[in-house]
Amino acid sequence: DAGSTPAASTKYDRADDSARYNNYEGGVMSLHAQWSTRLAFMLAAIGSAVGLGNVWKFPYITGENGGGAFVLVYLLCIALIGIPVMIAEVMLGRRAQRSPISTMQVLAKEQGASGFWQIVGWSGVFAGFLILSFYSVIAGWAMAYVIESASGTFNAISGDGSGDVFGGLIGDPQRLMIWHTLFMIMTVAVVARGIRAGIEKLVVILMPLLLVMLLILVAYAFNSGEFGRGLAYLFSFDFSKLSTDSIIVAMGHAFFTLSLGMGAIMVYGSYMQKNTSIGSSVLMIAIADTVVALLAGLAIFPLVFANGLEPGAGPGLVFVTLPTAFGAMPGGQFFGTVFFVLLVIAAWSSAISLVEPAVAWLSERDIMSRVRASWMIGLFSWILGIGTVLSFNLWSGDEYKVMGKTFFDLKDYLASNIMLPLGGLLIALFVGWAAKASMSKDELNLSSGTFNLFWLAIRFVAPLGVAIIFLNAVGLL
Ligand code: PHE
Repeated sequence: DAGSTPAASTKYDRADDSARYNNYEGGVMSLHAQWSTRLAFMLAAIGSAVGLGNVWKFPYITGENGGGAFVLVYLLCIALIGIPVMIAEVMLGRRAQRSPISTMQVLAKEQGASGFWQIVGWSGVFAGFLILSFYSVIAGWAMAYVIESASGTFNAISGDGSGDVFGGLIGDPQRLMIWHTLFMIMTVAVVARGIRAGIEKLVVILMPLLLVMLLILVAYAFNSGEFGRGLAYLFSFDFSKLSTDSIIVAMGHAFFTLSLGMGAIMVYGSYMQKNTSIGSSVLMIAIADTVVALLAGLAIFPLVFANGLEPGAGPGLVFVTLPTAFGAMPGGQFFGTVFFVLLVIAAWSSAISLVEPAVAWLSERDIMSRVRASWMIGLFSWILGIGTVLSFNLWSGDEYKVMGKTFFDLKDYLASNIMLPLGGLLIALFVGWAAKASMSKDELNLSSGTFNLFWLAIRFVAPLGVAIIFLNAVGLL
């Protein structure tokens, strides 16, 4: 497939591009990898999208924000903002076949737009650092919980007992550091091996496994939980519970769960073959991600209700409430262990995509090898992650909080609710306004009706949606 990429070899103004690129751009594409099949791309993108966001965060923020009405806003954000932005990201990456930073550089030039747009690539790299620095710590909790569940810690445990187990874990910086370190090494080791030998190999095994485990858990909840109440909780729309903050959380989560606004999906798109359809691929990825989040809710809430527990427990929902539920049920030790293995798998296949944009840039620029770049990015994120670890214990006091938020809360809020939507907004504005319509037409290859729909969404609906929600959140609307 090397060299079969006319857009990359004819459309750009080589002379203007950095001399460094000339090494491999004259049709020799061996330095920029490609997925081996469309399925590999799909699985990698689904692997990136489906993560802690779906299985840990979605259920607890749904619980905190009152259930159904929040779910509805989240679904609207996915459909009206998330899908168009994802199409735009994949398209940009695939057109330029470079890391997000260089993609924005090269395409801005190609489209006669300002160099300002490369800010999207840079802020994405920064957001990736930030997210990984807490992602890895939470994934570490899940790893610790695989061991706890498997060894029967939660059998017949009381609510308080379960709270103590969780408190014992997050209150112990050393234990958290060990798991954080292990997860970071697992992540880096995959990225260091590259696109085909690393990322692709991992997701091809993990994604089918994840689906099977999830279905097993939903079947378990269906048989042994209060399934009807779980369903009603997710799908009954009570708008009185919806605050301004709920809406910004729902939008932030739409970006977070689809891995949008920071270049992860863009860089995966850059490894995509030129002849695959972007629109239908993105639709399937977004649907898969949404279905997994809803299924996770359907695996969790029926068990929570069956055991008389509270759905609004916050970040501890999956780590305190759910283990209590498993502990009270026949087969709970086995199914609880399956649940936490699933959580680790989901987190692992997402974490690799947080590192890839920065690694792709460092290695394509020949600043350092992929292996070195991966370890270096991992190291920086690991160091920043120490702050996450401490925010649950030594730095959990009010004197360490900024605006009532711990260092962890702050990083999550800044990355998920501000940086990702802002990145998405810029991507939509670039594609819809700064670039020519011909770029999207060429790249997407849609029927004219479908294209018009996309064009309407990317020019107006998505940017206005993000802008209105932002203005609303800061009290200006
Ligand atoms: N989508 C992932 C999740 O839901 C998180 C993520 C965000 C991954 C941004 C990559 C980029 O857990």
